[in-house]
Amino acid sequence: MSLRFLLALSLSAVSVVCAAQVMPKRIILDTDPGTDDALALMLALHSPDVKIEAITVVPGNVTAEQGLENALRMVSLANRCDIPVAGGAKHPLNQKLITAEMWHGRNGLGNVELPSPKCKADAHFGPDLIIELVRKYPHEITLVPVGPLTNIALAVSKDPALATLVKDIVIMGGSISGGNSTGAAEANIFNDPEAAQIVFNAGWTVTMVGLDVGNKTLLTDEHVRDLASSPRPLAQFSAQIGKFMVSTGKKYGMEGAAMYDPLAMGVAIDPGVVTTRLMRVDVETQGQFTRGETVANREGYNEHYVLEGDHYTIDRLEKLPANARVCVDVKPQRFLDMFVSRIKGKP
Ligand code: RIB
Ligand code: CA
Repeated sequence: MSLRFLLALSLSAVSVVCAAQVMPKRIILDTDPGTDDALALMLALHSPDVKIEAITVVPGNVTAEQGLENALRMVSLANRCDIPVAGGAKHPLNQKLITAEMWHGRNGLGNVELPSPKCKADAHFGPDLIIELVRKYPHEITLVPVGPLTNIALAVSKDPALATLVKDIVIMGGSISGGNSTGAAEANIFNDPEAAQIVFNAGWTVTMVGLDVGNKTLLTDEHVRDLASSPRPLAQFSAQIGKFMVSTGKKYGMEGAAMYDPLAMGVAIDPGVVTTRLMRVDVETQGQFTRGETVANREGYNEHYVLEGDHYTIDRLEKLPANARVCVDVKPQRFLDMFVSRIKGKP
């Protein structure tokens, strides 16, 4: 084999390795903006290792209409009209919408008034845009849903192959240590339990960034001051949102603002910020006290019973295949350092 050929071969190998290392991660953000949703978007916009292929809007913190307006105002502020922003579902699959202006401000963005949008909404229905892009880029798209799972459920119900065609799905939702909407249920799941059960059982493995790790990842006044020290418009916006979140958290006795949605985006960017455990997760849709709970089967089996006379007895264990990587621990400082430094940008 000639030296020239060997040299060419090694150069092409190096270029393949380099290309693989610099290719940004293609993501679709499904969101109900929402103050922490806004910070998740800010993180994605300031991440050179992320390419936002689309933003799809789902009703949750605010109505579908308000959410679309908020998303368009934020991409307009960022001068990113190249990013498709599409509205999606108008309400949960099987219940009335529950909005959260108490937590997110009357406009959903901490009452921060952004200029009217110059970017226009994409004509697609959100779930259809998700299907189109995942099929356009098979095994390359990471779905990052940070609101109720209505759009994702509609997309994967219409095209079940999505479960095998996505690269990953990293959700903000759920909890294996109690809820924040009720004693058992986290807000995104509680706002559409039927959609969540469809998503957890679609055949993919969901990375579940729940309250268990979000509650350990708190934005503080110090982080807000740090963001505000940058004159960049998006840093200033992020600081205003953060200030609202921290003050709202303090009103209810919290030391800071849980970075639920930004942490999910952080996990999509740097999975090393969390520790995960494979589990089987199902969503309770019937319980009087537990509707919307993400019920984690940690051991991966249920006992199976057979009738023996006047009683049942256990005859075997029934294995349950894992369907979720549940985040059970987090490195808050590693995430918060990433978040603040990326949004502040290089001095
Ligand atoms: O429980 C927190 C979740 O509910 C976050 O996504 C927040 O934005 C709200 O949607
Ligand atoms: Ca959200």
